[in-house]
Amino acid sequence: MWSIALPLVMPIYGTRPEAIKMAPLVVELRRAPGLECFVTVTGQHRSMLDQVNRLFGIVPDHDLNIFSPGQSLNGILIRTIEGLDKLFGVNRPDAVVVQGDTTTSTAGAIAAFNHGIPVVHVEGGLRSGDLRSPFPEEANRRMTSQIATLHLAPTATSRDNLLKENIPAAKIVVTGNTVIDALFAAVRVKVPFTDPALEKLAESGRPILLVTTHRRENQGGAMRGIGRALARIADAVPDMAVVVPLHRNPVVREALVPPLQGKRNVLAPEPLDYGEFCRLMAMSRLILTDSGGIQEEAPSLGVPVLLMRENTERPEAVSAGAVRLIGTDEDRIVSEVQDLLHDAKAYRSMAESRNPYGDGTAAQLSASAIQRMLGTPPDGPAN
Ligand code: UD1
Ligand code: UDP
Repeated sequence: MWSIALPLVMPIYGTRPEAIKMAPLVVELRRAPGLECFVTVTGQHRSMLDQVNRLFGIVPDHDLNIFSPGQSLNGILIRTIEGLDKLFGVNRPDAVVVQGDTTTSTAGAIAAFNHGIPVVHVEGGLRSGDLRSPFPEEANRRMTSQIATLHLAPTATSRDNLLKENIPAAKIVVTGNTVIDALFAAVRVKVPFTDPALEKLAESGRPILLVTTHRRENQGGAMRGIGRALARIADAVPDMAVVVPLHRNPVVREALVPPLQGKRNVLAPEPLDYGEFCRLMAMSRLILTDSGGIQEEAPSLGVPVLLMRENTERPEAVSAGAVRLIGTDEDRIVSEVQDLLHDAKAYRSMAESRNPYGDGTAAQLSASAIQRMLGTPPDGPAN
């Protein structure tokens, strides 16, 4: 009796946002007939990655465990490529799936390409138009686009970016963003906050300004300015709670903690579990961030976002009116927050904008596209 090996699909990811956006797709791939799914994590992030896998019940099949404190971009790249080289020698997938624009993602794509393994790029086609911002993500995503076999574009805008770069239309599928699938799954479950101070805040009903920042191009002077701006906002609006879940990067903490220390209406917890963070986003009056994923999630929750960046590769939410690009100047951050809090009409128009990133079916559409690429279409077996 012959047994035919099923095509092996290997999602590879390593950071918190990749884990969040890959989780719904891993769930779909694991239940898709006609293929096997083998999850490899690099461990570029450690605690922040493990948190997300636990939440979605994903136990990786292989862990490269490359994390080291203060890691450099090239260190991440080298250790990921070396680890995958060895892994592909003993467990060669028929397709690799990478997500977005991190160093893990591009290293995974390069390692697979060099082995002649087709690369599926989830969240393909995002472009800020500035190679140095966000750094190094814009360069990472452009490199991955060059070597991917299948591009899963979240929106028509990202598809058009790929078409302009002469990627054939037949290799692009518009799916929506899997982050919306993850968000819908997370908000369905009512979770308590681990930190009692956050539970108390939830009970109080006080307005919340939620803040996250971690981008490399903002680290240093700009991030210290963000810290000073937050201190001024906390003083100017004492009834409002300013909640700043701190990224694990010590560089971020050095910039933010000193100006915020001792402020009675500021909370700076450790990174929150995704479920808790989604609950906090939904409770917030306003979000101030330089994050990529939060720009996509907040419009689905009706919470306006002020984006502390000079440009964005996610122009859809800006056009829809849900996100406003404000840069990183300290005075501007203070005035933009205060203006929006006092302008009910502008606030309502941002809060009521539509979400341009999908309806929660992106993972299913992505899995189907991968099955078609492998010749095991979802609507009927190929053999
Ligand atoms: C990475 C991604 C960025 C993404 C971000 C999400 C790259 C180049 N950048 O940036 O695109 O937006 O993740 O958060 O891939 N650390 C820990 N524990 C953790 C995670 C991080 O201690 O679980 C600390 C370490 O000191 C580490 C530092 O944070 O050296 C920076 O982490 P790293 O993955 O190198 O880059 P991020 O800035 O997090
Ligand atoms: N997030 C989280 N806990 C936190 C802060 C953020 O789960 O304390 C989630 C957030 O909802 C979003 C993702 O992490 O889905 C964004 O990650 P990050 O800002 O680190 O990376 P980016 O999206 O900028 O690449």
